[in-house]
Amino acid sequence: MNEQQHAGRADYRAWFAYHPRVDLETNMEKAPTYAWIASSDRNDTVRAAISVLAEGIGAMFGETPWVSALATDPDGETGKRSVGPNAADGANGADSGILVGTFAANERLREIFGVEAAELGREGFAIRTKEGVTAIGAHTPVGALYGAFHLLRLLATGADPSGHEVFERPANKLRMINQWDNIDGSIERGYAGPSIFYRDDAIDFEPARIRDYARLLASVGLNAIAINNVNVHRLESRFVTEDYLPRLAELAAIFRVYGIKLLLSVNFAAPIEVGGLPTADPLDEAVQQWWHERAAAIYEAIPDFCGFLVKADSENRPGPFTYGRGHAEGANMLADALGRHGGLVVWRCFVYNCKQDWRDRKTDRARAAYDHFMPLDGAFRDNVVLQIKNGPMDFQAREPVSPLLGAMERTNQVVEFQITQEYTGQQRHLCYLVPQWKTVLDFETHALGGAAPVKRIADGSVHGRTLGGFAAVSNIGADPNWTGHPLAQANLYGYGRLAWNPELSAEAIAEEWALQTFGANRRVADAVVGMLMESPDIYESYTAPLGVGWMVNPNHHYGPNVDGYEYDKWGTYHFADRDGVGVDRTVRSGTGYAGQYRGSNANMYESLADCPDELLLFFHHVPYGHRLKSGRTVIQHIYDTHFDGAQRAGELAQRWASLEGLVAADVYDEALARFREQAEHAKEWRDRINTYFYRKSGVPDEQGRTIY
Ligand code: GCU
Repeated sequence: MNEQQHAGRADYRAWFAYHPRVDLETNMEKAPTYAWIASSDRNDTVRAAISVLAEGIGAMFGETPWVSALATDPDGETGKRSVGPNAADGANGADSGILVGTFAANERLREIFGVEAAELGREGFAIRTKEGVTAIGAHTPVGALYGAFHLLRLLATGADPSGHEVFERPANKLRMINQWDNIDGSIERGYAGPSIFYRDDAIDFEPARIRDYARLLASVGLNAIAINNVNVHRLESRFVTEDYLPRLAELAAIFRVYGIKLLLSVNFAAPIEVGGLPTADPLDEAVQQWWHERAAAIYEAIPDFCGFLVKADSENRPGPFTYGRGHAEGANMLADALGRHGGLVVWRCFVYNCKQDWRDRKTDRARAAYDHFMPLDGAFRDNVVLQIKNGPMDFQAREPVSPLLGAMERTNQVVEFQITQEYTGQQRHLCYLVPQWKTVLDFETHALGGAAPVKRIADGSVHGRTLGGFAAVSNIGADPNWTGHPLAQANLYGYGRLAWNPELSAEAIAEEWALQTFGANRRVADAVVGMLMESPDIYESYTAPLGVGWMVNPNHHYGPNVDGYEYDKWGTYHFADRDGVGVDRTVRSGTGYAGQYRGSNANMYESLADCPDELLLFFHHVPYGHRLKSGRTVIQHIYDTHFDGAQRAGELAQRWASLEGLVAADVYDEALARFREQAEHAKEWRDRINTYFYRKSGVPDEQGRTIY
């Protein structure tokens, strides 16, 4: 199927479904309100804003607004009928319309917003309706584009924009997406088909599909994309050369229209592998010179290039350790090469060199990021940002917040999430991740004595950093519906919305997404929001219990395997034996990890009495008869939650089936097939976990249910 054919499918359109605009409560169609769209800006980004507005309003109200000739290029994609010279200043008779653009180019916008515009910053926007004109004003074209998307969001969710005064600016400067796509077309941890960027060892893309992806990303405010896998293999190491830069520049040009800048994941050993040098030592002059030349070539091809993303000295990727150098020396060398062009180095902190081991209860992978990076606080250049995974391990359904977030006071940081559902059901299970991310963002780090939740660390405000933000691993692929499970689109949507505004609630985001995707139908929206909101709890209930994590099959990480996680006979992540389960990470008797937290967080995790139930086995090794705060024993909690979780997973399929005929048929069928698979797979999880712990502990289920 080519992209043209995709475009008509509801699943492909994602949250750009543009259903007829109806009143949510009365179900009555709403009358068209916009007769024209005008702007005096003449650039591709404002044209894109006009184009999405015209398309969206046309679809929602059944009548495409006139677009002023000034607002379009004569042959441009929005080249519609002109409404005459007056339209550009929004004075087109009695009809109401939209005036969109920058303050510099549109005098009328300056008049409408006056001094209030000063607060908007580079990417912010304002929306105000005055005398029949809905004005969308910004300092930059991309601000105007974000405003256009916001107006469409208001319309698609049933709001009346004339009653809304909107002044928005993003909380975070960097709002990044990371593709883990490989040049052979595969995607590391991808669950939605092959790459949309690469095929058969070449950069090979359909421009329309990339544009549609850029539009999805920009519509939720994302502004940077790392275009290749952090594990940079042989051919991708050459992306920094003239062999690949022209094609990458074409990609950058598509994203640029939508305000999205390109990053490349680079191979630290590229000077050897690509440049033919004998070393990649960051202090070697020839190596420095090589990177300087590469940076100059990149900026020649892509003048607004954002920077490098680097996974170094991690999971067998090369890095400065080989040369006896540290992370700061490695990152700073690259930062110097890019800095003169205004570029950044995003350096990942996913660095560990140990396993959990039965024989040595002091070694702890959870400690690794903090142990490696904390001593380097203040040692990085200003154009280096450390990218820190949300938890100390690796994107489990439940783990504590990384203690490294907020610990460094003189270092730029971004928090890294995983939208792709590696450990959370691989887009075959429903798992809405926004509630998990909210928990992380709201976590009080106690940096500088308090009032320092992770969201304020990420945005740089706690430590007065000028650079910060969010990164996340994308969940999209070439499947027509982008994400495999059509409801997994909500995770991509929600990630962007949170990166823009971390104060939004998980529920509000779910509702916005559902209304835009499925139309203003209360019954559908309520059902979908309910399912999304319960889904992470359901998933957690039938998988690894009480924060212990990792009970998945090796390599592909799908499905239950209690002892299976990539370890030899000495390693598990749960340390279950006849008498108890969990990893002692206390300072008093365990690995000492709990001591990496500040103030009352350290005390809370250290104390068996205060540690929250959901993380108990992450921090403590306890007997099966240990009573949780809920009053249940650990073993009974495991049995109960697994029976309950599998049952609720089964009910998801029924709940979805009740929406037959109310949602588009393609989306309905795709999701139903996934819900059925989830229901069966949840039973397998239940039985494997319960059986394992029954055999280990010898404790029967109080309720006498069958455990094999
Ligand atoms: C996980 C994942 C890898 C990935 C790594 C990373 O370990 O399984 O596929 O490369 O995270 O974040 O670098």
